[in-house]
Amino acid sequence: MINDKKVLFSGMQATGNLTLGNYLGALKNWITLSDEYECFYSVVDMHSITVRQDPATLRKRARALLTLYIAAGLDPKKNCIYYQSHVSGHAELAWILNCFTYMGELNRMTQFKDKSSKHADNINAGLFTYPVLMASDILLYQTDVVPVGIDQMQHLELTRNIAERFNNIYGDVFTVPEAYIGKVGAKIMSLQDPAKKMSKSDENPNGSIYLMDDPDTIMRKFKRAVTDSEGMICYRPEQPGVKNLIDIYCACTGKTPQEVEREFAGKGYGELKPAVGEAVIAVLKPLQDEVARLSQEKSYLDGIIKENAEKANYYAMKTLRKVQKKVGFPERIR
Ligand code: TYM
Repeated sequence: MINDKKVLFSGMQATGNLTLGNYLGALKNWITLSDEYECFYSVVDMHSITVRQDPATLRKRARALLTLYIAAGLDPKKNCIYYQSHVSGHAELAWILNCFTYMGELNRMTQFKDKSSKHADNINAGLFTYPVLMASDILLYQTDVVPVGIDQMQHLELTRNIAERFNNIYGDVFTVPEAYIGKVGAKIMSLQDPAKKMSKSDENPNGSIYLMDDPDTIMRKFKRAVTDSEGMICYRPEQPGVKNLIDIYCACTGKTPQEVEREFAGKGYGELKPAVGEAVIAVLKPLQDEVARLSQEKSYLDGIIKENAEKANYYAMKTLRKVQKKVGFPERIR
């Protein structure tokens, strides 16, 4: 607990261009939850270097992502919005937790299998231990709840296992976190292949809506979205392309799938697709305008970055010192 509130932690990688999946699966829920919890929202730049990055691009994207968090409606005076790399406790705790994580556990991680097949020329140890860094991000702040999309569930389960293992040895050191998965939008699929999740790293840009896509591009991508030959607008697993469009529409409008089925009863995909496109544009356009405005506020953003890194460091150090003591590191002489 911090200030009598439960703690929330979440983060996103500043790798590639953020997609509608990142927004609907994560960021949107962060905003809904932000009043109820003491929140830490990190730009997890240390995770990004598990695959090769161009330094200037990474720096630019990290700043753009931090700006996006604020533009999306997270008040940086109330929520701790910061760069992971500005808080050394993440790396320090990760080292310790590496020693409490089994190779076999990490071997089972599907994201590792996925990424190592995509980057076969660079299967580095960081890519392998990535979930331990993620566990450290979460456990460092004694987090109660972690809002994420479904794809991060496996990492969260591992985090809980590591926390419980550590607590079993040393007593109640870590809060064991729960995942928060939104009711809608927790797994947005590719518009070109509804069997695959919408992803920043998809080679086919038509499969993803990027948060910075202009309205014409958004509309064009939805009009080209892969559906099926059934010709009916039904929310069911047998029609994954249509189901995905309905999910997106619901997440953007607040309607339920049943309401959408009624709205489009007797209508065709030619009517559904542009309606989804319009709904997405109505959500993204104000966000894009706010990002553009806020990006100009250099000294304001710099102030936020500095203040919040200090705040995050303060809480991170509290946990880290406790953990270091538990494992037997000598006390510091003041
Ligand atoms: P990342 O950067 O890949 O994704 C950020 C968030 O977006 C969600 N997401 C999706 N949700 C629905 N549909 C999709 N198609 C979709 N694609 C992505 C993800 O579930 C995530 O919530 N390892 C994490 C970042 C991370 C983190 C953490 C998250 C590092 N440390 C600690 C929570 C807590 C990642 O790569 O997310």
